[in-house]
Amino acid sequence: MPSSKFAHSEKYRYLNGFSSYHESEAIEGTLPIGMNSPQKHPYGLYTEKLSGTAFTAPRTENLQTWVYRIIPSCSHGNFEPRESSTYNTNPENKPYEKIHHIPNQLRWDPFDLDETVDWVHSLHLVAGAGDPTMKNGLGMYIYAAGKDMGEHEAFYSADGDFLIVPQHGVLDIRTELGRILVRPKEICVIPRGFKYRVTLPEGPVRGYILELYQGQFKLPELGPIGSNGLANARDFQVPVADFDEDTDSEWHILSKFAGHLFQAKQTHTPFDVVGWHGLYYPYKYDLGRFNVIGSTSYDHPDPSIFTVLTAQSDHAGTAIADFVIFPPRWLVAENTFRPPWYHRNTMSEFMGLIDGQYDAKTGGGFQPAGASLHNVMSAHGPDAGAYEKASNADLKPVKEGEGSMAFMFESCLMVGVTEWGLKTCKKVQAEYNAESWQPLKPHFKRPTPKVAS
Ligand SMILES: [Fe+2]
Repeated sequence: MPSSKFAHSEKYRYLNGFSSYHESEAIEGTLPIGMNSPQKHPYGLYTEKLSGTAFTAPRTENLQTWVYRIIPSCSHGNFEPRESSTYNTNPENKPYEKIHHIPNQLRWDPFDLDETVDWVHSLHLVAGAGDPTMKNGLGMYIYAAGKDMGEHEAFYSADGDFLIVPQHGVLDIRTELGRILVRPKEICVIPRGFKYRVTLPEGPVRGYILELYQGQFKLPELGPIGSNGLANARDFQVPVADFDEDTDSEWHILSKFAGHLFQAKQTHTPFDVVGWHGLYYPYKYDLGRFNVIGSTSYDHPDPSIFTVLTAQSDHAGTAIADFVIFPPRWLVAENTFRPPWYHRNTMSEFMGLIDGQYDAKTGGGFQPAGASLHNVMSAHGPDAGAYEKASNADLKPVKEGEGSMAFMFESCLMVGVTEWGLKTCKKVQAEYNAESWQPLKPHFKRPTPKVAS
């Protein structure tokens, strides 16, 4: 602390700052001064604008980026459906493929690596709510890939922003705005529309993705915490401009559009942006830089104190998606049951584990690369073993979760589980409840009645 130790060293440069207006040019003089769209660019570049919000969104929400590139994005052949009978990440758009809404607590064994597929084909929708065609809701994915994307392929999702949480392996992501290296214990957000190509410098990769169909991720308000703490804005890293000159090769542009895959051909690289400026960009963040806030007196605070990023609904304080982490931290609360309390929540909670062990689940069933889902009002809490341990623990200061990193995708929406998530993947633990909570014993003792003297 305050940063993660990575086995794979960083190799790219970044700009620092969340929600900052950034600009980057690979060749000095690329960005026009004082205007956006000159009649003739001095280097013969085309001007293109990428809008992440409506033009007229309020200033506090408005996300636009200007790019200066060799050939505009619109120069391509028609998009044609690809793998139309097999590729689907939007069950709402394919009603015969059932999505299951069930109140059971669910837990998954670690998801398998798959060395036969690339990034585009690695995406398995596990659970979700809403529909990207209506720009509402979210999707929760497991990815597992073992192959680089084709040398002349680029992918984008028109459906939402990808928040990528690697669990295993390294992602080298070339985006239109520059390159990002993402390792376990880092996260990366690729906003809607950005084209990118993923290669795997250390072989197979696996992790989790939250795709946000509506709005954007923001830093949570800090309220009485003040002006610093949790994820600090300066620690978010944004790529710098990096371009190729290639107007001869055949490129394939893959589009995830309403959950289905399309492909168009073009004769130029999409990675030809010589300079850019704006507020709409991909970024990454090292979870080791998270400044953990916790109780120094008594009681276990709400897990909202661990929120890294939030995407709010139209109702203040109620998130379509919160990204919450449980990093290593000191537990010092006195006379307190230190793990989370038992609860039922109007929000749904999808959890994953990047590494180590989560303190509320010590029974061994919640493992790195696995997951759990506690849906709207589905009761949960520490398993029986964790309860007994914590309720009898010596309450000296303890460093919890050394080397561990659990996380949660929390949503105000009831999420459904896909057929793949519930059945095809064959990872659901049938005995989750039976092993975790049915062994809980009553400890109730009636107080001894006071005898009147
Ligand atoms: Fe919970």
